[in-house]
Amino acid sequence: MFVSEALGVNSLGHLTVGGRDAVQLAQSYGTPLYVMDEGQIRRACRLYRRSIDRYYGGRGLVAYASKAFCCKEICRIANEEGLGLDVVSAGELYTAVTAGFPAEKIIFHGNNKTMEELTMALEYGVGRIVVDNITELHLLDQLARAAGSRPGVLLRIKPGVDAHTHDFVRTGQIDSKFGFALETGEAMEAAREAAAAGHLTFLGIHCHIGSQIFDTEPFQHAAQVMVGFLADVKRELGVELGELNLGGGFGIRYTPDNDPAPLDAYMEPVAAAIGAACRRTGMATPFIILEPGRSIAGPAGVTLYRVGGVKKIPGVRTYVSVDGGMFDNPRYALYQSRYSFVIANKAALSPAGTVTVAGKCCETGDLLGEDIPLPQAEPGDILAVLATGAYNYSMASNYNRNRRPPVVLVGGGEDRIIVRGETLEDLVRCDV
Ligand code: LLP
Repeated sequence: MFVSEALGVNSLGHLTVGGRDAVQLAQSYGTPLYVMDEGQIRRACRLYRRSIDRYYGGRGLVAYASKAFCCKEICRIANEEGLGLDVVSAGELYTAVTAGFPAEKIIFHGNNKTMEELTMALEYGVGRIVVDNITELHLLDQLARAAGSRPGVLLRIKPGVDAHTHDFVRTGQIDSKFGFALETGEAMEAAREAAAAGHLTFLGIHCHIGSQIFDTEPFQHAAQVMVGFLADVKRELGVELGELNLGGGFGIRYTPDNDPAPLDAYMEPVAAAIGAACRRTGMATPFIILEPGRSIAGPAGVTLYRVGGVKKIPGVRTYVSVDGGMFDNPRYALYQSRYSFVIANKAALSPAGTVTVAGKCCETGDLLGEDIPLPQAEPGDILAVLATGAYNYSMASNYNRNRRPPVVLVGGGEDRIIVRGETLEDLVRCDV
């Protein structure tokens, strides 16, 4: 019935998340409230790991892309599930390390890492730094020399596979701020420098072709291109690189018409594509890294709001206003991302019409969805937005000096705060 298997309806007709009554959660913790289902997160981690075991002989690492949802508890969960971690800033790195995440399983990304960030990465002993550009390659080599270390590096490559749409094409992606282009020879030049750098351990290459991708074809295509580059590097430089990081991007179901491949369906064809490309080029199959973010955290999340005003504008539309908005979920305002909505206290009722769900920010574009089918919405109802576990909390802001809501984790018949809600004092803490 719902877009996520973590959801259900109980005998009261209330929405349940991970077996907990969403209306009760809203009453206990207040709204807006992010709810994350631990079981769903762990299941996704296991599906990915299992698929690498099954189709790739276990020769790989699943690294959770923490930008999707980053806090100490999810770092602990990812660690317990045997995952690595992708971080992209000093803040994500700090969160991971202070949560006890083993630094050697951290992969540090970013197209413009600062000196502070690179220095931190070296001090913590981050396992892999994904070098984005030649300036960074030189800087990292110098910093490593000064620190007396030899960090593992991957080079970020633009494989020329544009997977943001269904019609992926080979051109266009050269126009991206991330990584080294293959077509221009820039990638080979970077590989030459990485191999020659005295203080870097050149481990392999990385690509990330996009996000919310529904089929496996672009990943197969990227894998072939990347293995081709590994073979070129071997031929031209005599260096056999052992690691291939294919990034994340696996799509999830936000609305019933989204139809992503099951999580464990990606690896089989991708492994076959890697195998075929390796046989063709005479390469040994590389150690593989996947970096799913959205598909681990997204389906596990639900955001709960309380409905305030319901404004019917005859012949125009009905606005249902909630006590959150673009400050806890900017994705509709930014990308017109579509979600599924449920009135948690009327979860068994059928839609009575369609409404526009509006946030409380002073901005016309502060909407969470339009043309949303809902039962009759009334002030006081608890409105649930589904599959909000990824890129919601992590992209939240204090716009209009709204307080970021708490995050509650449900699992094992219990619920507990994993990120406390901000207070008014928090809002002025940095003010001078
Ligand atoms: N690895 C790298 C290098 C990435 O840049 C990303 C996402 C991932 C892994 C994880 O991708 P995922 O599996 O989550 O698709 N704010 C946007 C999404 C931006 C994704 C950026 N990079 C949104 O709300 O849809």
